[in-house]
Amino acid sequence: MNATAVHARLRQLRAEIARHDELYYRAATPEITDRDYDRLKEELAALEAQFPAQTGAASLTPAVGDDRLAGFTTYRHRLPMQSLDNTYSEEELRAFHARLVKQLGREELAYVVEPKIDGLAVSLTFERGQLVRATTRGNGEEGDDVTANVRTIHSLPHHLATADGAPVPDIIEIRGEIYLTTAEFQRINQAREEAGAALYANPRNLAAGTVKLLDSKEVAQRKLEIVLYGLGFCEPAVADSQSDFHTLVKRWRLPTVERLWPAQGIDAVCAAVRELDHLRHSFHYGTDGAVVKLDEFALQREAGRTAKAPRWAIAYKFEPERAETRINAITVQVGRTGVLTPVAELEPVTLSGSTVARATLHNRDEIERKDIRVGDYVLVEKAGEIIPAVIEVNKARRRPECVPYRFPEHCPVCGTGVIQIEGEVALRCPNANCPTQVRRRLTHFVSKSALDIDGLGTAMVDELVGRGWVKELPDIFELRRADLLSLGKNVEKSADNLLAAIEAGKQCELWRLIHGLGIPHVGVAAAKDLAAHFRDLQALADAKLEDFVAEKTTIISGIGEVMARAITGFFNEPRNRALVLDLLHAGVRPVAPDARAASSATFAGKTFVLTGTLPSLTREEAAALIEAAGGKVAGSVSKRTSFVLAGEAAGSKLEKARALSVAVIDEAEFMRMLAAGSA
Ligand code: IVH
Repeated sequence: MNATAVHARLRQLRAEIARHDELYYRAATPEITDRDYDRLKEELAALEAQFPAQTGAASLTPAVGDDRLAGFTTYRHRLPMQSLDNTYSEEELRAFHARLVKQLGREELAYVVEPKIDGLAVSLTFERGQLVRATTRGNGEEGDDVTANVRTIHSLPHHLATADGAPVPDIIEIRGEIYLTTAEFQRINQAREEAGAALYANPRNLAAGTVKLLDSKEVAQRKLEIVLYGLGFCEPAVADSQSDFHTLVKRWRLPTVERLWPAQGIDAVCAAVRELDHLRHSFHYGTDGAVVKLDEFALQREAGRTAKAPRWAIAYKFEPERAETRINAITVQVGRTGVLTPVAELEPVTLSGSTVARATLHNRDEIERKDIRVGDYVLVEKAGEIIPAVIEVNKARRRPECVPYRFPEHCPVCGTGVIQIEGEVALRCPNANCPTQVRRRLTHFVSKSALDIDGLGTAMVDELVGRGWVKELPDIFELRRADLLSLGKNVEKSADNLLAAIEAGKQCELWRLIHGLGIPHVGVAAAKDLAAHFRDLQALADAKLEDFVAEKTTIISGIGEVMARAITGFFNEPRNRALVLDLLHAGVRPVAPDARAASSATFAGKTFVLTGTLPSLTREEAAALIEAAGGKVAGSVSKRTSFVLAGEAAGSKLEKARALSVAVIDEAEFMRMLAAGSA
């Protein structure tokens, strides 16, 4: 590959990974299997290693994802919460063992094999035996405080049992996984289906979505469960090994894994992993693999860790169920942002108990990379209950008449020539008036996770778009009662209900409107972060790239460069700017989050620009303090800037502040303002 191609692929991979991180960690709606995600990460790591010159100072991909959301307070873990490296074969497991044998200089190593629970990682802190806090992993260093939600878990005692004389440390962090049983998952999804809400793809996503609900009363209505399997910080120490720790967890009467396997040496580990694979379907929770851990803590410490994962533990992922079948056709679907997604129409085949007749092919590159052709026999995989994916082609069964697939050059719906946006894998239909796009945009705009307008199901949307009454989103606010009444007999009541629901939608929460606009990459989590930061749709639409990313650091927690570019790109389009104005003109008045609480906050309504190096605070810390006190941080100085917080080696921003007579303060002054509670 030449330098340009490497550069392009690196950008593409980072953008893809960032998008999948957002989908998995924050929106809890992943689109690809863990295995495919790992493949993207492996390809990125290999490219970065091969072409360090193209990589820049550091890879933009973080070691672990980030699940933090606006609306929660964050809490710093006393010991970081790491992730695990994955292996997919016995051979790789043996290599893991061989590395440890070499590093530790011992032939005999004792391990513990545990089920790998497919849920959401949490850390519980007990002080003098009382449960005081529960946090998500967050970015590994600090996570969201979800104590109130975790307290709703019936099977979790709020204190450590000591009736049998079990020791109680002063402070202990215990790590585990929150999950939902399949039965509970089905119960909730059924209720959602009846209510017309979007269904969750699998129990893990639903569990993750539930733990991050802001209303604990809602959480309490879903029966979350928990399993505990790991030790974080502990003072004083109460266990010398993982097996000791498991014994204590049981004595404290905390919920723990149904079974674990002590294993001497790698042969015993492999046997345990095989047995676990057979037994796992009888467990209460979804198990997608095994976790192999060195038993003794002293040896764990000696083995150490990398930035992402411990060297003393590894995950072994079980192969998801696969089947071979034929591709009868490839169709191309048009999404609401015009993205063209190729779909394999399959000869129906049974996989994990259900019939699979379609599988996503993701994009043109994926088809080319795997050389997928119509008529090919392919291996299809279903992991969790995620949409099935085509893994590979069985080339041995390819018939000579199978020709390479040619991706359409025109939109299959409206015939407009397709384009590729720089740095993105996806091909798009650029015609915003493409009927399928309009229909999908509208469906998204009124959906539960956006304006939440009741009575606007798919059939009604088709009707409104088909009759030409709605061409653009704001048109729904102009619908006429007389038109709706013409849709059938006895429809007065439903028409009035619909009009009332649309009217109520005008005063939706700001994040709903932001999410509803359908900005590429912006999911619910990001929309909430944006609403909390900008508090106003026009301010978001006016934001420049430097208001999101300054000197390579992100200004708004959760909004990285990929998303920032998508947002500014979206609002740079004249038709999207017009859309904002039209919505406001139609009377849409979204409500900013916690408007009342924020208006009494220290920095309410104040905008800060940071420049130079502060004596003690990092840029991120200063930004967090400002936002916590209700203020905003911007990337560039303008007349609207309230303060420039300047440190050592402040540059052009300081000059601009002076030129515009904007107040310049130093860290000491800033801290005084915070302490005094007024600016
Ligand atoms: S130990 C530092 N044990 O899997 C080691 N993790 O893919 C921390 N998980 O982040 C993890 N079951 O959320 C461990 N028995 C188990 C587990 C387990 C599920 C999760 C955990 C971890 C992720 C890594």
